[in-house]
Amino acid sequence: MSILVTGGAGYIGSHTCVELLNAGHEIVIVDNFSNSKPESLKRITELTKKEYKFYEVDLLDASELEKVFSENEIDAVIHFAGLKAVGESVEIPLHYYYNNITGTLVLCEVMKKYNVKRLVFSSSATVYGMPEQVPISEHFPLSATNPYGRSKLVIEEILGDLYISDPEWSIVLLRYFNPIGAHSSGRIGEDPNGIPNNLMPYITQVAIGKLTELYVFGNDYPTIDGTGVRDYIHVVDLANGHIAAIQKVLESTGFNTYNLGTGRGYSVLELVSAFQNVSGQKIPFKIVERRSGDIAICYADATKAKDELGWVAKRGIEEMCGDSWKWQKQNPLGYESQKESLVGRNH
Ligand code: NAD
Ligand code: UFG
Repeated sequence: MSILVTGGAGYIGSHTCVELLNAGHEIVIVDNFSNSKPESLKRITELTKKEYKFYEVDLLDASELEKVFSENEIDAVIHFAGLKAVGESVEIPLHYYYNNITGTLVLCEVMKKYNVKRLVFSSSATVYGMPEQVPISEHFPLSATNPYGRSKLVIEEILGDLYISDPEWSIVLLRYFNPIGAHSSGRIGEDPNGIPNNLMPYITQVAIGKLTELYVFGNDYPTIDGTGVRDYIHVVDLANGHIAAIQKVLESTGFNTYNLGTGRGYSVLELVSAFQNVSGQKIPFKIVERRSGDIAICYADATKAKDELGWVAKRGIEEMCGDSWKWQKQNPLGYESQKESLVGRNH
């Protein structure tokens, strides 16, 4: 009786694995390390002192994936595995469609073959496109503004069709808002490749001295201070949303969608200010042009998750900033090099 976690070595996956193990679930992890490192798996063991099975498998490889299902009693799947960089998806769309959509098709085919019909899927607030109002509810119109977002939208529709074809399936789509933060131990966290695209890892890399200053993309939006507003959510709260969702798919059949956010928005400058207060580090920044494709304001109406899953985000912006900073400070090079990162910590 195990839960299969695809993409379990990644940022959200590793935090969710820790919470699943702590909640007493047995898990099997599948990852191809295309955007993660084996070290994150070691740290899951270190933090939980629990055992789990791991397979280095690409979801696109159906026969290798079948082995995972034939060697384990899988009850349900949490499907994180996917590529997620918006800019890169514009440059290499076919790769994104192939990896994200075909990967999901292969997974669902194998699940069907092994009669495993319970699935929690990582979707994104990006499927709301340019929302006309906030807070954003699950019934708002959907659209995509880039290939990454379109891959999520297409997968949502495919999973809807799958449920229509066979109502024995139990599928939950989780639309995440902006995950930041890290485990409170500072042992697992977000480890982006190269220069970060997202705000929080960029801020922490400025704070640690890897980057010189933050570029704030526009200060002429109709917001409190002109900078973009987002619903930042602590990754451990997000991970716990998956514990609630897995309970739901194990207990009932159906097709349900939930926003996972806090319901509150912060501007770029508000986040910078909170980070400076918590960390004591100055974050130099420069206002530059708007980033193409960005929206002004995005935050969730998360009442459906509260009412139906009994889940609410508990951690505030200070805790999010403090935990992101702790992870960055303790792991200045991410998971890259143990030796070098220890040297970094002594400075
Ligand atoms: P991540 O890149 O850290 O984790 C994804 C993991 O999937 C990585 O470990 C990667 O190696 C693995 N993977 C990718 N393709 C694979 C394949 N074909 N076979 C096996 N493993 C594969 O990303 P994350 O931030 O943890 O995001 C997890 C999921 O949540 C993704 O689907 C992402 O699109 C979605 N999401 C993330 C955010 C965010 O801001 N982080 C927001 C909304 C939705
Ligand atoms: N920002 C900056 N400077 C930076 C990075 C970001 O000013 O260097 C600003 C952006 O303009 C935006 C805010 O900070 O106003 C947040 O930007 P992020 O890139 O951190 O996050 P986004 O809301 O643009 O997108 C993220 C993920 C998407 C996902 C979406 C909703 O990257 O994949 O959240 O979940 F779809």
